[in-house]
Amino acid sequence: MTTQPEPPLIVRRATSDDRRAALSLISPSSGRGRASLSLLRAQQGILWVAVERPSGAAADETLVGLLLATAQVEAEEETVVGYIHELLVHPAYRRRGVAMELLDAAERYFLVECAFGMVSVTTSFDNDAAIRLYRSRGYSLSQARLAKRRDETPSSDGAER
Ligand SMILES: CC(C)(COP(=O)(O)OP(=O)(O)OC[C@H]1O[C@@H](n2cnc3c(N)ncnc32)[C@H](O)[C@@H]1OP(=O)(O)O)[C@@H](O)C(=O)NCCC(=O)NCCS
Repeated sequence: MTTQPEPPLIVRRATSDDRRAALSLISPSSGRGRASLSLLRAQQGILWVAVERPSGAAADETLVGLLLATAQVEAEEETVVGYIHELLVHPAYRRRGVAMELLDAAERYFLVECAFGMVSVTTSFDNDAAIRLYRSRGYSLSQARLAKRRDETPSSDGAER
């Protein structure tokens, strides 16, 4: 039995149709997702997409991944930074190098075309896949952000502290 070759995956800057399609790939269940959705709905941010194109016809494309970024000024050093808000690959297309290609495109744009000083991203310490991915590309931990939550325990007189 012969196995069919996998359809090609293409990474490119998003069209306005891609921006609309991207809304359905991002879940609003996390803060990051809600922030990304609000950027996309406001036509903000620079978006790259990865699409699968089975027959070579653009109409058959399936959106399989995206990277949404903006340009920011890093306060401490006043460096212009390409900030990655969202890097997301559909679960069925993971471990095929899609994130690597999306990062290639974004880094080329920010570091080469725009000559920004840095590309940065925020992710949680328990996101092993993301930490491994970024570390494998030379990203290193550059800041430690510490936070303390407001105490929600009611005081003995019933008033919130
Ligand atoms: C993180 C994520 C974007 C990776 O996408 P991907 O297309 O599967 O990644 P790639 O195939 O390009 O992987 C490149 C490298 O990253 C690392 N990596 C990726 N997924 C990994 C996993 N689940 N576990 C461990 N390492 C992983 C590996 O080093 C991998 O190289 P290898 O496959 O040769 O071992 C994807 O898992 C995802 O969408 N996760 C949910 C959203 C998220 O957490 N985004 C990151 C925060 S912005």
